[in-house]
This record gives sequence, structure tokens and C-alpha cells, in this order.
Amino acid sequence: MSDAAPRPKENMGEPFPRIDARLKVTGQAPYPADAPIANLAYGTFAVSSIARGKINAIDIEPAKAVPGVLAVFTHREMAGQLEHPKFGNAAASSIAPLDTTDILHDGQPLALVIAETFEASQEAAQAIRVDYATEQPSATFDAQGTEIVAAKEASEQFEEDVAAGDFETAFAAAPVTVDQRYSTPTQHHNPIELFSTTAVWDGDGLTVHEPSQNVTGWKVELARQLRMEPEKVRIVSRYIGGAFGSKGPMTSRTAIVAWAAKNVGQPVRCVVSREQSYMTQTYRAETRHHIRMGADRDGRITAFAHEGWEVTSRPDPYVVGGTSTTGRMYDYGSVLTKVSIVKADRNTPGYMRSPPETPYVYALENAMDEMAVALNMDPVEFRRVNDTQVEPIGKKPFSSRSLMTCYDQAAEAFGWKERNAAVGSMRDGDWLIGMGCATAIYPTNVAPCTVRLRLNADGGLRLQCGSHEIGTGVRTIAAQMASERLGIPMDKIEVEMGDSSLPPAPVSGGSVSTASVCSAVIKGCDSIRGKLFGAVASADGPLKGAEPATLDMKDGAVTARDGRSMPMKDAFVAMKTGVIEDYAEFAPDGATPEAVSKLYGGQSEMKGGEKGEKVKYAFGAEFVEVRINTRTREVRVPRIVGAFAAGRIMNTRTARSQLMGGMIWGISSALHEVTEIDPRAARYVNRDLQDYLVPVNADIRDLQVILVPEVDMDVNPAGVKGLGELGNVGTAAAIASAVYHATGKRIRDLPIRLETLLT
Ligand code: MOS
Repeated sequence: MSDAAPRPKENMGEPFPRIDARLKVTGQAPYPADAPIANLAYGTFAVSSIARGKINAIDIEPAKAVPGVLAVFTHREMAGQLEHPKFGNAAASSIAPLDTTDILHDGQPLALVIAETFEASQEAAQAIRVDYATEQPSATFDAQGTEIVAAKEASEQFEEDVAAGDFETAFAAAPVTVDQRYSTPTQHHNPIELFSTTAVWDGDGLTVHEPSQNVTGWKVELARQLRMEPEKVRIVSRYIGGAFGSKGPMTSRTAIVAWAAKNVGQPVRCVVSREQSYMTQTYRAETRHHIRMGADRDGRITAFAHEGWEVTSRPDPYVVGGTSTTGRMYDYGSVLTKVSIVKADRNTPGYMRSPPETPYVYALENAMDEMAVALNMDPVEFRRVNDTQVEPIGKKPFSSRSLMTCYDQAAEAFGWKERNAAVGSMRDGDWLIGMGCATAIYPTNVAPCTVRLRLNADGGLRLQCGSHEIGTGVRTIAAQMASERLGIPMDKIEVEMGDSSLPPAPVSGGSVSTASVCSAVIKGCDSIRGKLFGAVASADGPLKGAEPATLDMKDGAVTARDGRSMPMKDAFVAMKTGVIEDYAEFAPDGATPEAVSKLYGGQSEMKGGEKGEKVKYAFGAEFVEVRINTRTREVRVPRIVGAFAAGRIMNTRTARSQLMGGMIWGISSALHEVTEIDPRAARYVNRDLQDYLVPVNADIRDLQVILVPEVDMDVNPAGVKGLGELGNVGTAAAIASAVYHATGKRIRDLPIRLETLLT
């Protein structure tokens, strides 16, 4: 094996445009619901309009009378037909609709109509009449009938309530304290590509075209629900129009549509309406936080407590639990944390970009700003005083932590020096100006991953990997890594992803894809290099007798350090082959021996974050300027600067794009997004893009991303820290701090609204 291939300057990769960019922007990238399938039938679900109760009777006759209707399936036809979804096993929820007369949440599927046309299926679904036995639902926090459970008792995924030292004593003794409560609202995914399932049977084999971040996990779970062998199921998801967690877990829809397709003897396509997606897909649950922080007068934090509460459904203990991260963020003298879940009559929540960090770091970073104000310290200096290279819970070193470099570079670019710290002191005509900053953090994880590589004598490479191009650029980045390693140009590389028939890759969640896929590509490429180098060193030719470990591949040739080289195609001649193929199975350091076989079974064993001898996180610092109109209190964000350090950056263009998108989502979280819930009925109110607000271009002005060079070869063989979920962590807290700086009003409950600022 040769030395690692040379790294570009400052660990920054080429800004290669995404391979699929042109297809995407010209609308030619086919989404799963575009798959051309002959003889399609269309499915539409009829869903519950109550959140809790039972079905007394369901009248499907009006639906059957609609011309073109082929079948209507309810619990009467489907009870017992499917295994129940297994929550936590790639399934979004254990709720098994159409298997029961029990109603557990608003919008629960009650019937599936199959018709010859999409329109007929829609009309028929609306014609179904349901007689309900209605019970009073519990909508959210504070509602009667909710059940509060400690996360560590309720959830296997939740590891521990992290703690260190004696918080109570330290807090009681602290001369300066902050003791506040914060909250974040329900938010819903609104990918522009609607959710959909297209199920096609061929004998006893099933192919499902559906946007997915986890084709292998879905294959295995779908097969289980349908009582089939996983080998008979294939999930295809080549292009996706927005994912961010929403297409991570599989909902109950997939198996029901597949079952229906088998029963009508025809392929079925079900495209979920925007409105129904609010109830049948996952969402970011509302959270509450209680933070207590104590500090010395010189600004050293001596005590930190973070208690969090999260809403979930009745049956599923979904929990994000961000205290594992917030409890390790600074050099607190003592730490106390506790996470609880609150069970309500709701559909099960799920992942939404940086699921734990977005709400939990929002609370922490607000409290940090409040403490800086209480101490009369600059918020950047306050973070510097409490920065650390050793996390406070297990006293383990960070593999790398460039937080203050990020702060310094972002502060410089932002012009933080110009800020007058006095509240309400900065103004431009009718606009109050506020400036704030906050920390971004995201755990660096990596998971087992496999790839198949086929290198031809003419230098063409085919790279196959069952990962998912969810917008991050991983398809392009995988090719870049292979191009670098094998010395072949990008245009000679063909990448296939998004299909469970390809070598399995982990769920494209938790920002693991670039690190995991690139680590597997390195392993495969190094195996090919080894085969080629061994052959050229032993065959007659210019490299005969060379030490294989000193060879490299560059510009379509095998090269030696002394300048000798041999065209790659001659090396193939020496090997008497036209193709070198390798199938690489990568497992991270510290993975269990079963990690790779678990991957084939649909489970991703993640390593990194707080696990291991060193803790692994990516960091950033974000600075925002807000302008608030003195009369209307309208809030604008004219300027935002974020600096981020995330190990090796494989592609500066796609990295910048991810971080920029993250900060835009952060602005959205701070000022726009909230799903309102009717507390009496436990129903979502604003379930469309007219009333669910997201920023438009006019809301986003000057947005700067700084990529801070960082080398960290502890994280994985690629030296890559995931950054897809880093950018939006901290943004909302920076905005809240800037709003305080402009107005003197501390808004602790998101979103920040004009009416709150008026009173
Ligand atoms: Mo991400 S919310 O882990 O897809």
C-alpha cells in the first residue's frame, strides 16, 4: 500500500460542480414518482379528522361509486395482513393504521383508495364517511392527559443524562447566575418533492420507487412488514427533492401501498398531498428547556444544568436528547442534565436537520448570551474563557476543536469590533440594529459502508454505492475521492447510488455520508492500487523492481518518486486483464465485529461523537445583524457570517452550499417556521405552504460562509467531519441575541414574532 495520496492545499477539495447539477436545475432528474411505469393505478389515503378515539363505522360505498375506482381497503380488509412497523428499525412509527379501529392521531390513515386515475382516487378518498367515537385528545405540553416519562427509562436509543461534579452546590455558590426557560415549536418538513410510493410487483419480487435516505434499512424493514425475504425487495431512490431527515424513516404508507398493489394486481403510485404530509410524515417536535448556569465574576462557568422536554406520540418513545452535546460544549465546572418525553395524542415525530442540536443548542446559546450580559462581558470573550480542548463529562480530549478560530475569523469578517455593546445603541434611521453570535456544533460520526469499483484499462471507473444523493453532493464527492486516489479525471468516473441493489451504505442521516462513503472509496481504491503496483513492480517495464509502497497514481499513469512512470493501460496489460474490480467493506475504528453484517441487515452502527477515546465534533461560529423597524417591529436579517471547521473539506462548493442552506434554515427557525396546533382538537392548523412560513429570496441577503482549515485524521480515514447539519445549529440563538441587543427584549420562545416585539 502506498502513502496517502497528496492532499490539496489547506485540506480543501476542488469546488467541482455537482455531477447531477444540470439535471436537477433543468428538472430532468427523475424523482421516484416520475418513474415511468406501465399500467399504473393510483392510490390516495383517506385520513382521520379526529386525533383520538375509535372508528364506529366506515362507509366506503360512496367511494366505490366514483367512476374508475378499483378497490378500497380499510381495516376490514387489511387487519392482520402486515407485520406491525418496528419503531427504531427504519420505521418512523410503530402505529399500524388499517390494522385497527383505534385512532391515535389526527390524520391517521383509515382507508386506501385505488383508482385508474389520480383524480378519481382523490375524489373517492374524500367521499368516504367515517362515524367516530371521539375522545378528548391531549395536544401538547400542559394538556390534560399527557404522560411525562424520563427519556432514559422510556428509550433504548437515549444513552444517558450526562452529569459531572456537584451542580447544586456549585450553582448555589455562584456569584452570577442565569435561570431561564426556553422553547422551540413544532416544525414540519416541506420538501418541494412531495412524498410518494410507487410499488411494482414482478411475480413475488417487489420494487418500490420512493424517496429515501436509507434504501437498505427500508428494504429490510419493508420485507419484514410484508413477510417476505429481504432479497425479494428493492428500493429505488436515485434523485431526491429535499430530505433533511424527512425521508430517513419509512412510514406505514410504504407497506400498505405495496400490499394494495399486490391485491389489485397492478402497480400502484401514491403521491401524498402537502396537507396529508403534515400528519402522515414525521416532524420536529416542540421542545422546552430549563437552563441554570452559574459563573464566577471573571466569567468562568462553574455550574451548568440543562433539562429538556420533548413531545412524542403515545406509543413511540421518540427522543432527540441534545444534552449529550450541550453538556460537553464548554468547560463547565459541573454539569447536570435530564431529558424527559411527553406523550401526547400525536403522530410520532422524527428527524429534522440536526435533530438534537437545533433545539438544545438554541437554549444553551441563548443562556450563554444572557450570562455574558449578566457578566458585562463580550459574548465572544465569554466563550473564549470557557473554551476547552477536553470535554467536561468524561474528561476526554476533542479529536480537534477549532471553535475559537472560527469565532476569530467570523468576527473579523463580520466587523464585530464595530459593535457598540450597549443595548439599543445602534440605529440606522427607522431601524434598530442588533448584532449577536452563537456557537454551531455537530457530532462527527462515521458508519460502515461498502462500495464496488470497476476500473477499466482505459481509465474509466464505475463506482457503485447504495448511499443517497439527498442534496449534499455525495455522488460528486465520492467521484472526487476516487479521482484523487486513482489519478483519473472526473469525467471518466460514473457513480451509481440510491438503489438497495447496490452495495449497502448507511442511512444518509447524522451527517455521516461523506465520511463513510469516502472511507469506503479509499479502501477500495487502495486495494486496486495495491494490485496494480504489485503487478508493475514484478512485470517487465519501466517500474520493474520498484517498491510498491513508493508508487502512486497520477494522470492515468502509475508513477514512482524518481519520476519513472508507466501508463495505467500498460499496467493492465502486465496484469493480463481489462478490468480490475474491488468490493470494499469499510468499518470504522472501534466498530463491533458485526458492524458490516449489520449494515447488510439494514442497521447503521455509528461511531464518533461522544463515543471513543477522543470525542469528535465539528464546530462553527455564526454572527448575525438584525434590523428591527422602530414602528412595525418587523425583523430583518441583512447580514450573516458563519465560519466552520469540519476537518477535510472534500468539495468547497458543496460544503459552502450545505452550510449556507443550514444558516438559511436557521433564519427560518428563528423568524418564520412554526406548525400551529389546535389545543382542543390536537390538529395541525397551518398545513400548507401558504400558512407555514419559510423564507424566500428577499428574506436572505448577505450571507457569508468561511471554511476554516482543519486537519483531523482521528475522525476517519478520509479526515472528513460531516457538515450537512452543522450550519443551522446556533443561527436562531445568534438571531435571538441580536434581537436582544437591538431592543433589550429577550425572546426565549421561537419563533421570534413581530407581535412579541410590539408588546
Ligand atoms: Mo438528518 S435530520 O440526520 O437527515
